Amino acid sequence: MIWILGATGRTGREIAAQVAARGGTPVLVGRNAERIHKTAAELGLAGVEVIETDQPAAEIARRRPAVVVNTIGGYAETAVPIARACLPGGHYVDLANDLVAMPRLLALHDEAVAAGSTFVTGAGFGVLGTEAVVARLCTDRPTPSHVQVDALPSVAIDGGLLGEALARSIISGLTTGGLRYEGGRMVPARLGADPREHSLPDGQTAKSAGAATGELLAAQLSSGAPAVVATSALIPGSRVVRVLLPVAGALLKIAPLQRFAVRRLAAVEGKPAPRPREHTWGHAVVSWADGTTREGWLRTGDAMDFTASVAAETAVRLARGEGRPGAYTPARALGPELAEAAGGTISVC
Ligand SMILES: NC(=O)c1ccc[n+]([C@@H]2O[C@H](COP(=O)([O-])OP(=O)(O)OC[C@H]3O[C@@H](n4cnc5c(N)ncnc54)[C@H](OP(=O)(O)O)[C@@H]3O)[C@@H](O)[C@H]2O)c1
Repeated sequence: MIWILGATGRTGREIAAQVAARGGTPVLVGRNAERIHKTAAELGLAGVEVIETDQPAAEIARRRPAVVVNTIGGYAETAVPIARACLPGGHYVDLANDLVAMPRLLALHDEAVAAGSTFVTGAGFGVLGTEAVVARLCTDRPTPSHVQVDALPSVAIDGGLLGEALARSIISGLTTGGLRYEGGRMVPARLGADPREHSLPDGQTAKSAGAATGELLAAQLSSGAPAVVATSALIPGSRVVRVLLPVAGALLKIAPLQRFAVRRLAAVEGKPAPRPREHTWGHAVVSWADGTTREGWLRTGDAMDFTASVAAETAVRLARGEGRPGAYTPARALGPELAEAAGGTISVC
C-alpha cells in the first residue's frame, strides 16, 4: 500500500492517480474525510481506502504502510518525523526542493540503512529534472571540477488559491538566500546572481538566475564536483527584482513577518493560464580539469505533471523493493533512468 499524505492537494491527487495507473495501491490520506472522498470520486478511485487523520506520523507507526508519499509540504518540519514513523522497513518519498529540509532528511541515512528503509527527498521536477542530467553526464567518468545546473520548468496554472504548502516552500527558498559550492564547501552567493539566457534545443528561449534550491545539493552529491552553481527560471529575471530579492529574503527571516508572508501568499488567487513554453527543461554543463566539457538536457512537458509522475514512479519502485536502504536524492536512489520512466527525455550534446 502506498499512502499519499495531502491527497486532496494539486500534486497529491495526481500522484494518487498515477500510482493507480502504474498498478500500485494508493491510499488517500488527509485531514477531512469528505474532501478526500470527493477527490477519490473525481479521480475515478472511488473504491480506494481513505484515511482521515491530523496525526499522520502516529497513524503510519500504527498501520505500517509499505511506502508513504508526503505532499503536505513544510518539509523542514514534517519530513523527519514522518520518515522516522516509516522505520523499520517502510519507505518514504517527498517533494522537497530546499536546503533546509533536504539535508535534514539526508541526515537520517544511517538510521534508514540500519532499519532497511529507503528515504527519497526531492522526487519531483525540482531536483530530479537537473540531477538526472548530471548523473547521466558523470556516468563512468572521473570526478568533474565544475557543474552548472539550470532548472527551467514550464507550468500551466489551473487557477484557485496558491495554498499554504507551496507558499511555505517559496518563502523558505527566499530566506535561504543565494548559495553555491566553491572548493567543496557551500558558500553564500547573491540570490539572483548569474543571470542567464538559454537558447533551448526546441528553438525557444528562457531566462534563469541563481537560486539556492535542492538542485544545487543534488548536483554536488551526484557529481562530487567541488564547484557547483544552480540557477532557476523561477527566480524573476528583472534587474530591479534581483536587487530587491536579498532584502526581501533577509526581512522574511523574522518569524512573524514570515508567517504573515506565508498567509498572504497562500491566499493569492492564480488566474488560469496555459504553460508559457511547450517544454520544461533541465540543463547541466559538467567540466573536468583536463578541459573536457559535456552538456545535457532533460526535456518533458508540464513540470507539475512530471513531478507527479516522478513521485508516483519512485513510490511504486520502492513498493516493489527496488530501493536500497538509506536516504537519497532521487537519481542516487534509483538512477537517472527514473526520470526517463517518469516521462523525461535525456539528451547529451
Ligand atoms: N519538487 C518539486 O518539483 C515540487 C513540485 C510541486 C510541488 N512541490 C511541493 O509539494 C508540496 C505540495 O504542493 P501542492 O501544490 O500539491 O500543495 P497543495 O495543493 O496546497 O496541497 C497540499 C496538501 O497538503 C495538505 N496539508 C497542508 N498542510 C497540512 C498539514 N499541516 N497537515 C496535514 N495536511 C496538510 C492539504 O490538505 P487540506 O485539504 O486538508 O488543506 C493538501 O491536501 C509543496 O511543498 C510544494 O512546494 C514540489
